[in-house]
Amino acid sequence: MSRPRGPRPHTVQPVRLAGRPAALCGTPGAVHAQGSTQPDLPADTPWSAPDPRGHRWLLRPDRPASARLASLMLAGKDHLAADRMLLDRLQSEDAHCLVRARRGREFLHHAAGHLAERGLDQFLDLGCGLTTGAPGTALAPIHTSVLTARPGARVVYLDRDPVVMAHARALLDAPAPAQVRHLRADLATPGALLAKLREHAGLEWRRPVAAVLGDVLHELSDPQARCLLAALRRELPAGSVLVLSHRTAVAGAPGRAARVAACWEQADLPWYPRTPEAVDALLDGWERQELGVESVAGEAASGVYAVVAVSSSGGRGR
Ligand SMILES: C[S@@+](CC[C@H](N)C(=O)[O-])C[C@H]1O[C@@H](n2cnc3c(N)ncnc32)[C@H](O)[C@@H]1O
Repeated sequence: MSRPRGPRPHTVQPVRLAGRPAALCGTPGAVHAQGSTQPDLPADTPWSAPDPRGHRWLLRPDRPASARLASLMLAGKDHLAADRMLLDRLQSEDAHCLVRARRGREFLHHAAGHLAERGLDQFLDLGCGLTTGAPGTALAPIHTSVLTARPGARVVYLDRDPVVMAHARALLDAPAPAQVRHLRADLATPGALLAKLREHAGLEWRRPVAAVLGDVLHELSDPQARCLLAALRRELPAGSVLVLSHRTAVAGAPGRAARVAACWEQADLPWYPRTPEAVDALLDGWERQELGVESVAGEAASGVYAVVAVSSSGGRGR
């Protein structure tokens, strides 16, 4: 990936971070919603539905889940004891992990709002998680920033975790903007994912899309991540933008990175932390842009690498 010349941009004001977000249901602004043509959502309990690869999802309350852990780290309410135990272990090795999670979200909100102000009006939040906080909090869904800047924009949320989908259904009672949708798909199968998006996302495929990959790529292996980024570059309309935040490896005391990795392994959660250079190496064909919002998240020093990039070759866009 080519880097722009010149000094790093200066820091801009972060979004306001409230203390604890309000309760999930009935929270103003917590309005994930599914489109009326929602495909293949499980009709039965969310944890007994097959995942996109045909495996059975089993609710394992004894094991942490990535979406719930992220909710916990962002002061949300949707977590279980197993998530809290994992966070305790992570924090004992990495005291700054909560700050890092908030900074990553601040960056996503800034970048999304900024792109909406600049005219982008189609957003995809890939691996959206349980981002159910009130507007202005780190845990707020990104459409709260996007629609503030561009009220007519469309935002599509996507995740593979059926619990995330269950929350989306529960929130149908909330006053949801019609242009917000929620789809279930797997980032590890980008062909199927893009086919589903084309059919059900309600986006116009001739016009640019901002694809947000917030704090999720560390859950994909190098081949999976490369495949996904290549597919997005190839298939998204020309002029589309990638907004990416990525956890970097934990520096510090000898053995710390290995101990952190062991925490993830014992939790049975994927963990592929990458250096900024390793992230850049995955972004073949994407050209980095400086919007002046990237340094909100800091770079390697704060443990989050933030990138905004456009496809240098242009997508197909049909
Ligand atoms: C750490 S959370 C981040 C949530 C949110 N993007 C944020 O910035 O806070 C990662 C989310 O990605 C989802 N995820 C992980 N791997 C995925 C995959 N292969 N396909 C779809 N979603 C995935 C998880 O279910 C989880 O909700």
